[in-house]
Amino acid sequence: MTGGTDSPVVDVHTHVVPHGWPDLAASCGGSEWPWLRVDSERDAMIMVGDTPFRPVGAACWDRDVRAADMAADGVDVQVVSPTPVFFGYERPAAQAAAVARIFNDLTLKVTADDPRFVPFCQVPLQDPDAACAELDRSLAAGHRGVEIGNHIGDRDLDDEGVVTFLQHCAHVGAPVFVHPWDMPDGPRLDRWMARWLTGMPAETHLSVLAMILGGVFDRVPDSLRICFAHGGGSFPFWLGRSDNAWHRRGDLVRGRSQHPPSHYTNRFFVDTVVFEPAALRLLVDTLGEDRVVVGSDYPYPLGERPAGTVVRDNPLLDDRVRDKLLSGNAFRFLGR
Ligand code: CO
Repeated sequence: MTGGTDSPVVDVHTHVVPHGWPDLAASCGGSEWPWLRVDSERDAMIMVGDTPFRPVGAACWDRDVRAADMAADGVDVQVVSPTPVFFGYERPAAQAAAVARIFNDLTLKVTADDPRFVPFCQVPLQDPDAACAELDRSLAAGHRGVEIGNHIGDRDLDDEGVVTFLQHCAHVGAPVFVHPWDMPDGPRLDRWMARWLTGMPAETHLSVLAMILGGVFDRVPDSLRICFAHGGGSFPFWLGRSDNAWHRRGDLVRGRSQHPPSHYTNRFFVDTVVFEPAALRLLVDTLGEDRVVVGSDYPYPLGERPAGTVVRDNPLLDDRVRDKLLSGNAFRFLGR
């Protein structure tokens, strides 16, 4: 079954790896930066030290390849975000600021003022002043929003520095896309891509809770437009558990929040990379039909191709809701 809608499709969750970045140790200082092992004109491997991290293809850096895939998949607009392995939040802020400048400028060469692409920058989030400055510089240069990792070491999204940055994003009207990264590892998680299959949803779940129970949504203006990747991780499915705990173990759970978690579901967006029609329906029922936006994780293999299939071919949605998910909600997230 395919929806009968003519709505444009906006994919808010795609990634870029620009080609031809300089030697990062020489340009930014520090050592053990990711590097690109170029295997052919169309294929490369992101390396961390001597370890292959992720194979990448020309879709990561070639605008024409991306545009051809979008045409084939029926996607009209892509938000183009960094790949989190380059965030450098664990490094000295000056190094992370330097790598952000390099990648943000290279990303604009990929997107090149083409209206099909909406570039999002990265920032040195461990230093709020530097993060605000790089956001401002990037917005002036052509970026339209920012992607952040969901934590900085042991600091989550309720960290005072992060809250300062989010307040700045609200002030300048920059949409924020939150991506899980830097997942815990260990023998139990180093098999079967478990860090991606269970770690990423848990990371996102924890960071949504941090914004709620850490009182962030009570402190930042409701003009902040923020979206969590991968359907909000496991947060939406377990919202009832969080509410129950907030009421029954409030002594431990409430933190700085003014209201139970379900009160805040109209304060953020989530994307649709959940694959199953019933899972997407749960997002719409739990968070609201105005809070879900198409995302695909293009061009990576754990993403959905074609983007938005779970929206377009979902028998549990009507066309009115489908149109909101395909583009209407994304235009609001992007401030269009
Ligand atoms: Co992603």
